[in-house]
Amino acid sequence: MKHHSFDQLEPDISVRLSESVQSQSSPVKTNLAVPSPSTTALDLDQRLLDLKQQGLRRRRRVVESPQGPRLITNGRELLSFCSNDYLGLANHPALISAVRNSLEQYGVGSGASAMISGHTAAHAALETRLAGFVGLERALHFSTGYMANMAIIPALVGKDGTVFCDRLNHACIVDGAWLSGAELEVYPHLDMVTLEKRLARCTSPNKMVATDTVFSMDGDIAPIPKLLELCERYNAWLMLDDAHGFGVLGDRGQGSLAHFNVPYSSRIVYMGTLGKAAGVSGAFVAGAENVIEWLLQTAKPYVFSTSCPPMLAAAVMASLEIIGREKWRRERIRELILQLREGVTGLPWQLLHSDTAIQPLIVGDNHIAVRMMQMLEVRGIWVPAIRPPTVPKGTARLRISLSASHTSNDVAQLIDALRVIARMDLDE
Ligand SMILES: Cc1ncc(COP(=O)(O)O)c(C=O)c1O
Repeated sequence: MKHHSFDQLEPDISVRLSESVQSQSSPVKTNLAVPSPSTTALDLDQRLLDLKQQGLRRRRRVVESPQGPRLITNGRELLSFCSNDYLGLANHPALISAVRNSLEQYGVGSGASAMISGHTAAHAALETRLAGFVGLERALHFSTGYMANMAIIPALVGKDGTVFCDRLNHACIVDGAWLSGAELEVYPHLDMVTLEKRLARCTSPNKMVATDTVFSMDGDIAPIPKLLELCERYNAWLMLDDAHGFGVLGDRGQGSLAHFNVPYSSRIVYMGTLGKAAGVSGAFVAGAENVIEWLLQTAKPYVFSTSCPPMLAAAVMASLEIIGREKWRRERIRELILQLREGVTGLPWQLLHSDTAIQPLIVGDNHIAVRMMQMLEVRGIWVPAIRPPTVPKGTARLRISLSASHTSNDVAQLIDALRVIARMDLDE
Protein backbone atom coordinates (compact mmCIF):
# COMPACT_ATOMS: atom_id res chain seq x y z
CA MET A 1 0.00 0.00 0.00
CA LYS A 2 1.45 3.36 -0.96
CA HIS A 3 0.72 6.51 0.95
CA HIS A 4 -0.09 9.81 -0.58
CA SER A 5 -1.74 11.72 2.08
CA PHE A 6 -0.28 11.03 5.49
CA ASP A 7 2.61 13.42 5.03
CA GLN A 8 0.07 16.20 4.56
CA LEU A 9 -1.63 15.57 7.89
CA GLU A 10 -0.80 17.50 11.00
CA PRO A 11 1.03 14.89 13.08
CA ASP A 12 -0.88 15.69 16.26
CA ILE A 13 -4.31 15.06 14.84
CA SER A 14 -3.71 12.14 12.57
CA VAL A 15 -3.02 9.48 15.13
CA ARG A 16 -5.87 7.22 14.28
CA LEU A 17 -4.33 6.47 10.95
CA SER A 18 -0.75 7.47 10.92
CA GLU A 19 1.08 7.25 14.22
CA SER A 20 3.14 4.47 12.82
CA VAL A 21 3.80 6.00 9.43
CA GLN A 22 7.51 5.89 8.85
CA SER A 23 9.41 7.12 5.83
CA GLN A 24 7.88 8.12 2.51
CA SER A 25 8.98 4.90 0.90
CA SER A 26 7.73 2.47 3.54
CA PRO A 27 4.18 1.19 3.44
CA VAL A 28 1.51 2.88 5.51
CA LYS A 29 0.68 1.08 8.71
CA THR A 30 -2.27 1.85 10.91
CA ASN A 31 -1.36 2.05 14.54
CA LEU A 32 -4.48 0.09 15.40
CA ALA A 33 -3.87 -2.75 12.99
CA VAL A 34 -0.17 -3.33 13.29
CA PRO A 35 1.78 -2.44 16.46
CA SER A 36 4.86 -0.55 15.37
CA PRO A 37 7.72 -0.96 15.93
CA SER A 38 7.46 -4.68 16.58
CA THR A 39 7.54 -5.74 20.22
CA THR A 40 9.65 -8.55 21.57
CA ALA A 41 8.64 -10.44 24.68
CA LEU A 42 11.49 -8.78 26.56
CA ASP A 43 10.38 -5.18 26.17
CA LEU A 44 6.66 -5.74 26.71
CA ASP A 45 6.85 -4.77 30.39
CA GLN A 46 8.58 -1.50 29.54
CA ARG A 47 6.05 -0.71 26.84
CA LEU A 48 3.14 -1.43 29.16
CA LEU A 49 4.75 0.90 31.70
CA ASP A 50 5.09 3.58 29.02
CA LEU A 51 1.38 3.33 28.31
CA LYS A 52 0.65 3.79 32.01
CA GLN A 53 2.93 6.82 32.28
CA GLN A 54 1.26 8.46 29.29
CA GLY A 55 -2.16 7.95 30.86
CA LEU A 56 -3.00 5.50 28.08
CA ARG A 57 -3.24 2.20 29.95
CA ARG A 58 -6.80 0.96 29.67
CA ARG A 59 -8.64 -1.35 31.96
CA ARG A 60 -11.89 -3.21 31.55
CA ARG A 61 -14.58 -3.10 34.15
CA VAL A 62 -16.71 -6.09 34.94
CA VAL A 63 -20.42 -5.31 34.60
CA GLU A 64 -22.74 -7.37 36.76
CA SER A 65 -26.12 -6.23 35.42
CA PRO A 66 -28.00 -6.04 32.10
CA GLN A 67 -27.44 -2.98 29.90
CA GLY A 68 -29.48 0.06 30.89
CA PRO A 69 -29.06 3.56 32.25
CA ARG A 70 -27.82 2.05 35.52
CA LEU A 71 -25.08 -0.53 35.51
CA ILE A 72 -23.78 -2.49 38.47
CA THR A 73 -20.04 -2.86 38.61
CA ASN A 74 -18.02 -4.01 41.59
CA GLY A 75 -21.29 -4.34 43.48
CA ARG A 76 -22.09 -0.65 42.99
CA GLU A 77 -24.76 0.94 40.83
CA LEU A 78 -23.56 3.69 38.49
CA LEU A 79 -25.55 5.98 36.24
CA SER A 80 -24.05 5.13 32.88
CA PHE A 81 -23.42 7.34 29.86
CA CYS A 82 -21.15 4.75 28.24
CA SER A 83 -23.26 2.54 26.13
CA ASN A 84 -24.14 2.56 22.43
CA ASP A 85 -27.51 1.05 23.35
CA TYR A 86 -28.97 4.33 22.07
CA LEU A 87 -32.59 3.22 21.96
CA GLY A 88 -32.54 1.27 25.21
CA LEU A 89 -33.31 -2.07 23.53
CA ALA A 90 -30.47 -4.28 24.78
CA ASN A 91 -32.57 -5.59 27.68
CA HIS A 92 -36.03 -5.18 26.12
CA PRO A 93 -38.55 -7.94 26.98
CA ALA A 94 -39.54 -8.39 23.31
CA LEU A 95 -35.95 -9.18 22.37
CA ILE A 96 -35.53 -11.53 25.31
CA SER A 97 -38.68 -13.38 24.37
CA ALA A 98 -37.59 -13.62 20.70
CA VAL A 99 -34.35 -15.21 21.86
CA ARG A 100 -36.23 -17.68 24.09
CA ASN A 101 -38.47 -18.74 21.21
CA SER A 102 -35.53 -19.09 18.87
CA LEU A 103 -33.67 -21.21 21.40
CA GLU A 104 -36.61 -23.60 21.43
CA GLN A 105 -36.59 -23.81 17.65
CA TYR A 106 -32.89 -23.74 16.76
CA GLY A 107 -30.91 -24.37 19.94
CA VAL A 108 -27.84 -22.27 20.59
CA GLY A 109 -25.05 -22.60 18.03
CA SER A 110 -25.25 -22.24 14.26
CA GLY A 111 -22.79 -25.07 13.76
CA ALA A 112 -20.98 -23.91 10.63
CA SER A 113 -20.33 -21.04 8.28
CA ALA A 114 -23.28 -19.74 6.30
CA MET A 115 -21.89 -21.37 3.14
CA ILE A 116 -22.00 -24.81 4.73
CA SER A 117 -25.02 -25.31 7.01
CA GLY A 118 -25.06 -22.24 9.28
CA HIS A 119 -27.55 -20.15 7.29
CA THR A 120 -30.91 -20.74 8.99
CA ALA A 121 -34.38 -19.51 8.07
CA ALA A 122 -33.93 -16.93 10.87
CA HIS A 123 -30.82 -15.52 9.14
CA ALA A 124 -32.51 -15.59 5.72
CA ALA A 125 -35.61 -13.78 6.97
CA LEU A 126 -33.49 -11.17 8.69
CA GLU A 127 -31.48 -10.41 5.55
CA THR A 128 -34.66 -9.84 3.56
CA ARG A 129 -36.08 -7.61 6.28
CA LEU A 130 -32.88 -5.57 6.65
CA ALA A 131 -32.60 -4.88 2.92
CA GLY A 132 -36.19 -3.62 2.85
CA PHE A 133 -35.67 -1.58 6.03
CA VAL A 134 -32.79 0.45 4.57
CA GLY A 135 -34.23 0.51 1.03
CA LEU A 136 -31.50 -1.43 -0.78
CA GLU A 137 -31.77 -4.51 -2.97
CA ARG A 138 -30.20 -7.17 -0.82
CA ALA A 139 -28.42 -7.63 2.51
CA LEU A 140 -25.84 -9.98 3.99
CA HIS A 141 -25.67 -10.63 7.72
CA PHE A 142 -22.30 -10.58 9.53
CA SER A 143 -21.28 -11.49 13.08
CA THR A 144 -19.67 -8.09 13.73
CA GLY A 145 -19.27 -4.72 12.08
CA TYR A 146 -15.50 -5.00 12.28
CA MET A 147 -15.67 -8.18 10.27
CA ALA A 148 -18.07 -6.65 7.75
CA ASN A 149 -15.67 -3.80 6.99
CA MET A 150 -12.77 -6.22 6.70
CA ALA A 151 -14.91 -8.08 4.16
CA ILE A 152 -16.36 -5.26 2.08
CA ILE A 153 -13.28 -3.25 1.20
CA PRO A 154 -10.95 -6.06 0.07
CA ALA A 155 -13.82 -7.70 -1.85
CA LEU A 156 -14.47 -4.56 -3.88
CA VAL A 157 -11.09 -2.83 -4.12
CA GLY A 158 -7.79 -4.54 -4.83
CA LYS A 159 -4.13 -3.59 -5.15
CA ASP A 160 -4.76 -1.47 -8.23
CA GLY A 161 -7.46 0.56 -6.44
CA THR A 162 -7.55 3.56 -4.11
CA VAL A 163 -9.56 3.91 -0.91
CA PHE A 164 -10.34 7.44 0.22
CA CYS A 165 -10.83 7.61 4.00
CA ASP A 166 -11.99 10.46 6.21
CA ARG A 167 -9.25 11.15 8.74
CA LEU A 168 -11.57 10.30 11.65
CA ASN A 169 -12.85 7.02 10.26
CA HIS A 170 -13.26 4.10 12.61
CA ALA A 171 -10.31 1.71 12.94
CA CYS A 172 -12.09 -1.11 11.11
CA ILE A 173 -12.55 0.93 7.93
CA VAL A 174 -8.85 1.69 8.01
CA ASP A 175 -8.02 -1.95 8.64
CA GLY A 176 -10.29 -3.04 5.79
CA ALA A 177 -8.49 -0.62 3.47
CA TRP A 178 -5.16 -1.87 4.74
CA LEU A 179 -6.13 -5.47 4.12
CA SER A 180 -7.25 -4.69 0.57
CA GLY A 181 -3.72 -3.68 -0.44
CA ALA A 182 -5.15 -0.61 -2.19
CA GLU A 183 -3.58 2.81 -2.03
CA LEU A 184 -4.96 4.73 0.94
CA GLU A 185 -5.78 8.43 0.64
CA VAL A 186 -6.77 10.08 3.90
CA TYR A 187 -8.65 13.34 3.50
CA PRO A 188 -9.13 15.90 6.28
CA HIS A 189 -12.27 15.37 8.31
CA LEU A 190 -15.39 16.17 6.23
CA ASP A 191 -13.32 18.20 3.76
CA MET A 192 -15.19 17.70 0.49
CA VAL A 193 -13.04 20.18 -1.43
CA THR A 194 -9.85 18.23 -0.72
CA LEU A 195 -11.60 14.93 -1.37
CA GLU A 196 -12.77 16.16 -4.77
CA LYS A 197 -9.26 17.34 -5.71
CA ARG A 198 -7.81 13.98 -4.81
CA LEU A 199 -10.52 12.05 -6.63
CA ALA A 200 -9.96 14.20 -9.69
CA ARG A 201 -6.24 13.52 -9.85
CA CYS A 202 -6.54 9.80 -9.00
CA THR A 203 -5.74 7.48 -11.90
CA SER A 204 -6.67 4.17 -10.23
CA PRO A 205 -9.12 2.07 -12.24
CA ASN A 206 -11.13 1.38 -9.08
CA LYS A 207 -11.90 3.89 -6.35
CA MET A 208 -13.85 3.78 -3.11
CA VAL A 209 -14.79 6.55 -0.70
CA ALA A 210 -15.28 4.98 2.74
CA THR A 211 -16.65 6.90 5.68
CA ASP A 212 -18.34 6.70 9.04
CA THR A 213 -21.75 8.30 8.62
CA VAL A 214 -21.97 9.36 12.27
CA PHE A 215 -18.40 9.65 13.57
CA SER A 216 -18.06 7.36 16.52
CA MET A 217 -16.01 9.60 18.80
CA ASP A 218 -17.25 12.97 17.53
CA GLY A 219 -20.95 12.48 16.84
CA ASP A 220 -21.01 14.63 13.70
CA ILE A 221 -22.55 13.42 10.43
CA ALA A 222 -20.87 12.97 7.03
CA PRO A 223 -22.49 14.90 4.11
CA ILE A 224 -23.75 11.81 2.32
CA PRO A 225 -25.52 13.55 -0.62
CA LYS A 226 -22.31 15.41 -1.45
CA LEU A 227 -20.26 12.23 -1.09
CA LEU A 228 -22.60 10.42 -3.45
CA GLU A 229 -22.40 13.26 -5.97
CA LEU A 230 -18.58 13.03 -5.90
CA CYS A 231 -18.67 9.26 -6.23
CA GLU A 232 -20.99 9.55 -9.23
CA ARG A 233 -18.75 12.18 -10.83
CA TYR A 234 -15.51 10.27 -10.30
CA ASN A 235 -16.91 6.78 -10.65
CA ALA A 236 -16.20 5.49 -7.16
CA TRP A 237 -17.89 3.15 -4.71
CA LEU A 238 -19.42 4.86 -1.68
CA MET A 239 -18.96 2.73 1.43
CA LEU A 240 -21.03 4.02 4.33
CA ASP A 241 -20.45 2.74 7.86
CA ASP A 242 -23.72 3.57 9.60
CA ALA A 243 -22.81 1.93 12.93
CA HIS A 244 -24.02 4.96 14.88
CA GLY A 245 -26.77 6.08 12.53
CA PHE A 246 -28.77 2.88 12.04
CA GLY A 247 -31.79 2.95 14.37
CA VAL A 248 -31.11 6.53 15.46
CA LEU A 249 -31.36 8.55 12.24
CA GLY A 250 -34.31 8.57 9.85
CA ASP A 251 -37.96 8.93 10.72
CA ARG A 252 -38.35 5.20 11.35
CA GLY A 253 -34.73 4.62 12.33
CA GLN A 254 -33.71 3.36 8.88
CA GLY A 255 -30.42 5.19 9.25
CA SER A 256 -28.43 7.85 7.46
CA LEU A 257 -29.72 7.18 3.92
CA ALA A 258 -33.25 7.93 5.04
CA HIS A 259 -32.05 10.87 7.14
CA PHE A 260 -30.73 12.56 3.97
CA ASN A 261 -33.39 11.06 1.69
CA VAL A 262 -30.61 9.69 -0.52
CA PRO A 263 -31.89 8.23 -3.81
CA TYR A 264 -31.06 4.61 -4.65
CA SER A 265 -27.63 4.13 -6.19
CA SER A 266 -25.93 0.89 -7.08
CA ARG A 267 -22.60 2.37 -6.02
CA ILE A 268 -23.67 2.63 -2.36
CA VAL A 269 -22.40 -0.15 -0.13
CA TYR A 270 -24.07 0.30 3.24
CA MET A 271 -22.88 -1.26 6.49
CA GLY A 272 -25.09 -1.12 9.57
CA THR A 273 -24.25 -2.62 12.95
CA LEU A 274 -26.74 -4.42 15.15
CA GLY A 275 -24.94 -4.21 18.50
CA LYS A 276 -25.59 -0.52 19.08
CA ALA A 277 -29.06 1.03 18.59
CA ALA A 278 -30.50 -2.37 17.61
CA GLY A 279 -29.44 -3.64 21.04
CA VAL A 280 -28.17 -7.05 19.95
CA SER A 281 -24.91 -7.87 18.15
CA GLY A 282 -23.74 -8.34 14.58
CA ALA A 283 -23.92 -6.27 11.43
CA PHE A 284 -25.13 -6.32 7.85
CA VAL A 285 -24.02 -5.07 4.49
CA ALA A 286 -26.69 -3.91 2.06
CA GLY A 287 -26.47 -2.80 -1.54
CA ALA A 288 -27.13 -3.81 -5.10
CA GLU A 289 -27.95 -7.47 -5.74
CA ASN A 290 -24.66 -8.14 -7.58
CA VAL A 291 -22.55 -6.46 -4.88
CA ILE A 292 -24.04 -8.67 -2.20
CA GLU A 293 -23.71 -11.79 -4.35
CA TRP A 294 -20.04 -10.91 -4.95
CA LEU A 295 -19.44 -10.54 -1.19
CA LEU A 296 -21.18 -13.84 -0.58
CA GLN A 297 -18.94 -15.54 -3.12
CA THR A 298 -15.62 -13.91 -2.28
CA ALA A 299 -15.47 -12.07 1.06
CA LYS A 300 -13.22 -14.25 3.20
CA PRO A 301 -14.38 -12.99 6.63
CA TYR A 302 -17.88 -14.04 5.58
CA VAL A 303 -17.10 -17.30 3.84
CA PHE A 304 -14.67 -18.70 6.41
CA SER A 305 -16.36 -17.82 9.69
CA THR A 306 -19.12 -19.55 11.65
CA SER A 307 -22.41 -17.72 11.25
CA CYS A 308 -23.80 -16.08 14.36
CA PRO A 309 -26.29 -17.97 16.55
CA PRO A 310 -29.80 -17.86 15.04
CA MET A 311 -31.22 -16.50 18.30
CA LEU A 312 -29.36 -13.24 17.60
CA ALA A 313 -30.99 -12.97 14.19
CA ALA A 314 -34.37 -13.52 15.88
CA ALA A 315 -33.58 -10.82 18.45
CA VAL A 316 -32.73 -8.34 15.69
CA MET A 317 -36.06 -9.09 13.97
CA ALA A 318 -37.86 -8.15 17.20
CA SER A 319 -35.68 -5.09 17.56
CA LEU A 320 -36.49 -3.86 14.03
CA GLU A 321 -40.19 -3.91 14.89
CA ILE A 322 -39.59 -1.59 17.82
CA ILE A 323 -37.09 0.63 15.99
CA GLY A 324 -39.60 1.27 13.19
CA ARG A 325 -42.62 1.73 15.43
CA GLU A 326 -41.43 3.61 18.52
CA LYS A 327 -40.47 7.06 17.32
CA TRP A 328 -40.59 8.36 20.86
CA ARG A 329 -37.21 6.76 21.47
CA ARG A 330 -35.55 8.99 18.87
CA GLU A 331 -37.52 12.01 20.11
CA ARG A 332 -36.38 11.36 23.67
CA ILE A 333 -32.74 11.36 22.55
CA ARG A 334 -33.29 14.72 20.84
CA GLU A 335 -34.76 16.24 24.02
CA LEU A 336 -31.88 14.92 26.12
CA ILE A 337 -29.33 16.33 23.65
CA LEU A 338 -30.87 19.80 23.99
CA GLN A 339 -30.95 19.55 27.76
CA LEU A 340 -27.31 18.46 27.98
CA ARG A 341 -26.02 21.06 25.52
CA GLU A 342 -27.83 23.84 27.32
CA GLY A 343 -26.76 22.53 30.73
CA VAL A 344 -23.03 22.49 30.05
CA THR A 345 -22.75 26.02 28.67
CA GLY A 346 -20.30 28.05 30.71
CA LEU A 347 -18.24 25.04 31.79
CA PRO A 348 -14.48 25.12 31.09
CA TRP A 349 -14.88 22.32 28.53
CA GLN A 350 -16.80 22.41 25.25
CA LEU A 351 -19.06 19.82 23.70
CA LEU A 352 -18.17 19.16 20.07
CA HIS A 353 -20.90 20.17 17.67
CA SER A 354 -23.12 17.09 17.45
CA ASP A 355 -26.81 16.47 16.84
CA THR A 356 -26.57 12.79 17.64
CA ALA A 357 -26.58 10.67 20.79
CA ILE A 358 -22.77 10.91 20.91
CA GLN A 359 -21.88 14.09 22.80
CA PRO A 360 -18.11 14.43 23.30
CA LEU A 361 -16.88 16.84 25.98
CA ILE A 362 -13.37 17.84 24.92
CA VAL A 363 -10.90 17.95 27.81
CA GLY A 364 -7.56 17.79 25.95
CA ASP A 365 -5.15 16.28 28.43
CA ASN A 366 -5.21 12.49 28.91
CA HIS A 367 -4.58 12.61 32.65
CA ILE A 368 -7.24 15.26 33.28
CA ALA A 369 -9.77 13.29 31.27
CA VAL A 370 -9.09 10.22 33.40
CA ARG A 371 -9.28 12.27 36.59
CA MET A 372 -12.64 13.69 35.55
CA MET A 373 -13.89 10.19 34.81
CA GLN A 374 -12.79 9.16 38.33
CA MET A 375 -14.42 12.19 39.94
CA LEU A 376 -17.67 11.49 38.16
CA GLU A 377 -17.49 7.93 39.35
CA VAL A 378 -17.10 9.07 42.96
CA ARG A 379 -20.44 10.82 42.35
CA GLY A 380 -22.01 7.63 41.02
CA ILE A 381 -21.73 8.45 37.30
CA TRP A 382 -19.86 6.49 34.64
CA VAL A 383 -18.66 8.36 31.56
CA PRO A 384 -15.71 6.92 29.63
CA ALA A 385 -12.56 8.97 29.07
CA ILE A 386 -11.48 8.42 25.46
CA ARG A 387 -7.81 8.96 24.74
CA PRO A 388 -5.35 8.47 21.89
CA PRO A 389 -5.00 6.43 19.80
CA THR A 390 -8.80 6.20 19.65
CA VAL A 391 -8.91 10.00 19.23
CA PRO A 392 -6.22 12.44 18.03
CA LYS A 393 -3.53 13.48 20.51
CA GLY A 394 -4.49 16.46 22.64
CA THR A 395 -8.23 15.83 22.23
CA ALA A 396 -8.89 13.41 25.10
CA ARG A 397 -12.54 13.60 25.91
CA LEU A 398 -15.44 12.36 27.95
CA ARG A 399 -17.65 10.56 25.45
CA ILE A 400 -21.13 11.11 26.81
CA SER A 401 -23.55 8.83 25.11
CA LEU A 402 -27.25 9.40 25.55
CA SER A 403 -29.97 6.80 25.35
CA ALA A 404 -33.74 6.81 25.08
CA SER A 405 -33.72 4.99 28.40
CA HIS A 406 -32.21 7.99 30.22
CA THR A 407 -34.54 10.40 31.97
CA SER A 408 -34.10 14.15 32.14
CA ASN A 409 -33.23 13.67 35.85
CA ASP A 410 -30.32 11.45 34.79
CA VAL A 411 -28.98 14.16 32.50
CA ALA A 412 -29.52 16.81 35.20
CA GLN A 413 -27.47 14.68 37.59
CA LEU A 414 -24.60 14.55 35.08
CA ILE A 415 -24.72 18.31 34.48
CA ASP A 416 -24.67 19.01 38.26
CA ALA A 417 -21.69 16.70 38.76
CA LEU A 418 -19.75 18.39 35.92
CA ARG A 419 -20.46 21.78 37.47
CA VAL A 420 -19.05 20.62 40.81
CA ILE A 421 -15.94 19.16 39.11
CA ALA A 422 -15.41 22.41 37.20
CA ARG A 423 -14.78 24.15 40.53
CA MET A 424 -12.12 21.64 41.60
CA ASP A 425 -8.36 21.67 40.89
CA LEU A 426 -7.78 18.99 38.28
CA ASP A 427 -4.05 19.58 37.80
CA GLU A 428 -2.86 17.94 41.04
C1 LIG B 1 -18.09 3.34 13.17
C2 LIG B 1 -17.96 1.92 13.62
N1 LIG B 1 -17.88 0.95 12.70
C3 LIG B 1 -17.78 -0.34 13.03
C4 LIG B 1 -17.73 -0.73 14.35
C5 LIG B 1 -17.56 -2.17 14.68
O1 LIG B 1 -18.79 -2.76 14.89
P1 LIG B 1 -18.90 -4.06 15.81
O2 LIG B 1 -18.84 -3.56 17.22
O3 LIG B 1 -20.19 -4.69 15.42
O4 LIG B 1 -17.71 -4.91 15.48
C6 LIG B 1 -17.83 0.23 15.35
C7 LIG B 1 -17.80 -0.20 16.76
O5 LIG B 1 -17.66 0.53 17.68
C8 LIG B 1 -17.95 1.59 14.98
O6 LIG B 1 -18.03 2.55 15.90
